[in-house]
Amino acid sequence: MLLLAVMAGWTAKADEGMWLPSLISQRIGDMQEKGFRLNAEDIYSINQESLKDAVVLFGRGCTGELISSEGLLLTNHHCGYSQIQQHSSVEHDYLKDGFWAMSREEELPNKGLSVSFLERMEDVTDLILKGYEEGMSEDERVAIVKKNSQSLIEEVTKEGKGLRATVEALYYGNQYFMFLYRQYDDVRLVGAPPSSIGKFGGDTDNWMWPRHTGDFSMFRIYADKDNNPAPYSKDNVPYQPKKYFKISTAGVQEGDFTFIYGFPGRTQEYIHSEGVRYIEEIGDPHKIHLRTLRLDIMNRHQSQSQKVRIQYSSKNATVANAWKKWQGEVKGVKKMKTVQTKQEFEKAFDRWAAGGEFDGVIAKIEGLYKELEPYQFATDYYAETVRAIEIANFATSLYSAYKVNKETGEITFDEKKAADLVESFYKDWYLPIDKECFAALMTEFDKNIPEDFKCEYFKKQMKKYVTAEKWAEAIFSKSVFADQDKIEKFLKNQKSLKKSRAALLKDPATEFAAEFAKWYAAEIQPVTSRINQELQLAYRDYMRGQMVYCRTQRVPKAFYPDANLTLRVAYGHIKGYQPADATYYLPSSTIKGIMQKDNPDIFDYNIPQRLRDLYAEKDYGRWADATGEVPVCFIATNHTTGGNSGSPVINANGDLIGLNFDRVWEGTMSDIVFDPEICRNISLDVRYVLFIIDKLADADHLLDEMTFTE
Ligand code: ARG
Ligand code: ASP
Repeated sequence: MLLLAVMAGWTAKADEGMWLPSLISQRIGDMQEKGFRLNAEDIYSINQESLKDAVVLFGRGCTGELISSEGLLLTNHHCGYSQIQQHSSVEHDYLKDGFWAMSREEELPNKGLSVSFLERMEDVTDLILKGYEEGMSEDERVAIVKKNSQSLIEEVTKEGKGLRATVEALYYGNQYFMFLYRQYDDVRLVGAPPSSIGKFGGDTDNWMWPRHTGDFSMFRIYADKDNNPAPYSKDNVPYQPKKYFKISTAGVQEGDFTFIYGFPGRTQEYIHSEGVRYIEEIGDPHKIHLRTLRLDIMNRHQSQSQKVRIQYSSKNATVANAWKKWQGEVKGVKKMKTVQTKQEFEKAFDRWAAGGEFDGVIAKIEGLYKELEPYQFATDYYAETVRAIEIANFATSLYSAYKVNKETGEITFDEKKAADLVESFYKDWYLPIDKECFAALMTEFDKNIPEDFKCEYFKKQMKKYVTAEKWAEAIFSKSVFADQDKIEKFLKNQKSLKKSRAALLKDPATEFAAEFAKWYAAEIQPVTSRINQELQLAYRDYMRGQMVYCRTQRVPKAFYPDANLTLRVAYGHIKGYQPADATYYLPSSTIKGIMQKDNPDIFDYNIPQRLRDLYAEKDYGRWADATGEVPVCFIATNHTTGGNSGSPVINANGDLIGLNFDRVWEGTMSDIVFDPEICRNISLDVRYVLFIIDKLADADHLLDEMTFTE
């Protein structure tokens, strides 16, 4: 009751917020006031088809949308990147040259890729907390939540094929929602532009405006003859969606209403100032530094060999992406003085809370953060150093191909699994990069981790080898994993599984991973998980407290649950921004800007000759805007985060106008604090997508499947 009252009570500060579709009736008035012409039931309904039926969770952390009655799906180039890369080799370089299936037969199946449609979502708080009583311990509560969730999931997934469900805690466990999905596993690659378009501007332009990246790729969902989910089969047929987006080519203008429907991954809008301080002063700066070292090494080797460039393209992009985002985030929270603002809020809250239900919660959280800090630091360091060593991760996964029967002690070996692991690892592994990273990262580990936090194994190795370089030399020359031939021979000639398993365990790469994992599991993880559990508990009160405080003290603040990779609605409008004094950014970019950036000598800005020719001839087909140029990207005030990539950008009529793919650098702190002045999401104008398909790829058969509103 309280939650509902609070959520409906205050309107959000200009366009901030990621709203739950099933509760969108609480926001629809505001949306309509801002220009939206449809109703709540058009966005989310369990009785009729609605826009939600055209949106999918794509892979592990992106969004995609259906744009034809035959299962055609649009998402970002960077979301389909690893699939495009997997099909690429020096001979068929789809990353470089692009890929277009000219017929259904040419569409490429993808191992391990699936998409999920949300069937329905429900507030199940009462059901999940059934049996819980005031005064029970947190452990008891956790057990109850787990048990109730499991039985609910079992019950709802019985209903049909491909169903899976999750129960998610919202507002730190003040509320629980069940999400029921239908998952399709046969998803094929239909098309992707060359990276010189799909990743135009590369990591130089990433997180930046003005932007000219054609960040899209296309897939098709396949189903069995009854339109149900089915594993890949030649006999599968294109999936027929309940709903797909119509495409508007009318164009966009500053001030236009925009609506993003997708799966934002993670935000922390309600955390305590100490949480922000850690991110700003410690966590982000250290992680940035460690990744700078890795990126320097990768970039150097990648620039020297085309093979290595392809091998490390996806890995490099992943490392670089968060690296750059964290830098923007630190700048953003500094500029916003978020720590200070939060401290002031906390002081006022604390005074108000005295003697009441929320008395002491601030002090409790502060104490826990203090205790957590060194352990959090070790956790971050472990993740960004030890866990970044490729050979060690590979050794660990290969070792897990051996299974020991607990009762009989008998050992079995999964040959198929091992062969798959070997194949995919060596395809994209370059020893010198991994080895140099090892040396650089372990040197930093030695410098920055306090002596009493280092494990015995680490100290012993450093004593023995003196420098991390020498240690690296030893591991990478002795490990059987450093040489594909050696490991393949080893795996082929196993006489005794017991002996070979034991030998692999002693291998220096396996040993490295295992010793650190042991240390982490024994010394670090138990402490962080205990403190985090207590924090979670304190946050549950603090979250509720913030709501009550803001309502009763008339502090205007809108509450929406933090992102957790569940379907959300974010609405706003197209708008430029002022990144710095005397500078104003217009909200849309055009093909002219691509030509201005075009430079054959700079890898990130070297466009295909075909695009230059089309531009020279102004051969734009029906895709030019009123000024006669092809629009490329636009920015708007929608509140988005990682996971929203690939999300449909929808206009006031519910039609598709673009594809979300990024945010502006000055606004990346929006995962912690949203500033309506400069937080902008970046989208690809759908007309650029259509132009590329039509004119550059000559794949206009795909256009025939689509429905245009003008
Ligand atoms: N910054 C966008 C997002 O967070 C796009 C990332 C594409 N990757 C890259 N390294 N350019 O995902
Ligand atoms: N580029 C991000 C993504 O991949 C979106 C963002 O962080 O704004 O989801």
